[in-house]
Amino acid sequence: MSTVNSETFFEMRGICKDYQMGEETMRVLRDIDLSLEEGEYLSVLGPSGSGKSTLMNIIGCLDTPTLGEYTLHGREVQELDEGELAHLRSREIGFIFQNSQLLPRLTALKNVELPLIYAGVPPRERRQRAKEMLVRVGLEDRMGHMPNQLSGGQQQRVAIARALVGNPSILLADEPTGALDQKTGAQIMTLFAELSAEGRTIIMITHDMKIASHARRVVHIIDGVITEGGGTEDA
Ligand SMILES: Nc1ncnc2c1ncn2[C@@H]1O[C@H](COP(=O)(O)OP(=O)(O)O)[C@@H](O)[C@H]1O
Ligand SMILES: [Mg+2]
Repeated sequence: MSTVNSETFFEMRGICKDYQMGEETMRVLRDIDLSLEEGEYLSVLGPSGSGKSTLMNIIGCLDTPTLGEYTLHGREVQELDEGELAHLRSREIGFIFQNSQLLPRLTALKNVELPLIYAGVPPRERRQRAKEMLVRVGLEDRMGHMPNQLSGGQQQRVAIARALVGNPSILLADEPTGALDQKTGAQIMTLFAELSAEGRTIIMITHDMKIASHARRVVHIIDGVITEGGGTEDA
């Protein structure tokens, strides 16, 4: 039987995640329903320990739920094995973390090329695409720099270029400004707003209400429970 449902872009139904701690089972995500349309800019806002990273790992196909259904671009994620998950992840998700997690011995350009190397894209094309992405994030004059020759904000821009270069259907960011000062963080939020205006689908996870308010839609997560947070359209 096919597990492809071409109608559904992103839908979670009754997602639960349990962790086993010795004898005890801890339910960290509780009955999460969440739908997203292509092109939406969503933020998930919640305090430390509320389950944000656990949810991100499931959204990003790094982990599977204990219960529930998750459909991403027509694929029923809970039915996939490790290899299929890795494949889906590499095609559909562009990850951005709090720390840019660049490889320290590679230039900005090589860092951005890396996902395309794994994807088997030929050298000339991948170099071209990586350059275009670095131009897009405003780093055309820093392509040959090593990560330690870049500011924190520039490193995060490289990470965003790397996340985008494979043309994923979702940009998934976990506290993307968490390691940056306020001004640099605001510049990264401006870049996200531009990417959203260009039609990118973005899910941004944060504990910071001010950061969350940059998204067009905010949901709250508290103790593993999601509630729709009312719009910020007029903010
Ligand atoms: N691998 C794990 N094993 C057991 N408990 C975990 C594991 N990962 C996270 N938790 C627990 O799940 C809860 C949510 O964690 P997390 O998703 O990292 O929250 P957040 O990202 O919102 O700070 C926390 O109470 C944390 O201790
Ligand atoms: Mg976290």
